[in-house]
Amino acid sequence: MPAERKTFLVMHGPNLNLLGEREPEIYGSMTLKELNAEIRRHASGLGVRVLFFQSNHEGRLIDCLHRNRKRIQGLVINAGALTHYSYALRDAIASIGVPAVEVHLSDVHKREEFRKTSVIREVCLDQICGLGVKSYFEGISRLARNTVKKRPSD
Ligand code: DQA
Repeated sequence: MPAERKTFLVMHGPNLNLLGEREPEIYGSMTLKELNAEIRRHASGLGVRVLFFQSNHEGRLIDCLHRNRKRIQGLVINAGALTHYSYALRDAIASIGVPAVEVHLSDVHKREEFRKTSVIREVCLDQICGLGVKSYFEGISRLARNTVKKRPSD
């Protein structure tokens, strides 16, 4: 029987659908589609399956977490600006009990003051930022090291 692969959800929040054209001097020139392809390639190398979801709506992100909570073993989340103030998203991450890593393309600690606050940080294993696409790679690798494989009986 083939070994069960881990499945991680990679979630992108508001405005990340515009990657490639949105402030390229900060976020780079890669589109979201290209970014996801790179993430998938990295995850495959680690034997991890990835699901992707992007929304500009807080409730849709929360619904997606609820919907997928039983099929994922890890969550890599770039919550965009919701990072800085969404207690609802924070509660959702805590509620599903899935190991999560917070990631950002830019270095949120070297930008405006409001970006230094993350209300989701405490419910995540780690925060990785400022590495562009590599922030996501690091997030996937971090979770791959720290999560258990899906059991066939789950
Ligand atoms: C971001 C940083 C956030 O402050 C911002 O609101 C974003 C993108 C990043 O990936 O660098 O939308 O999460």
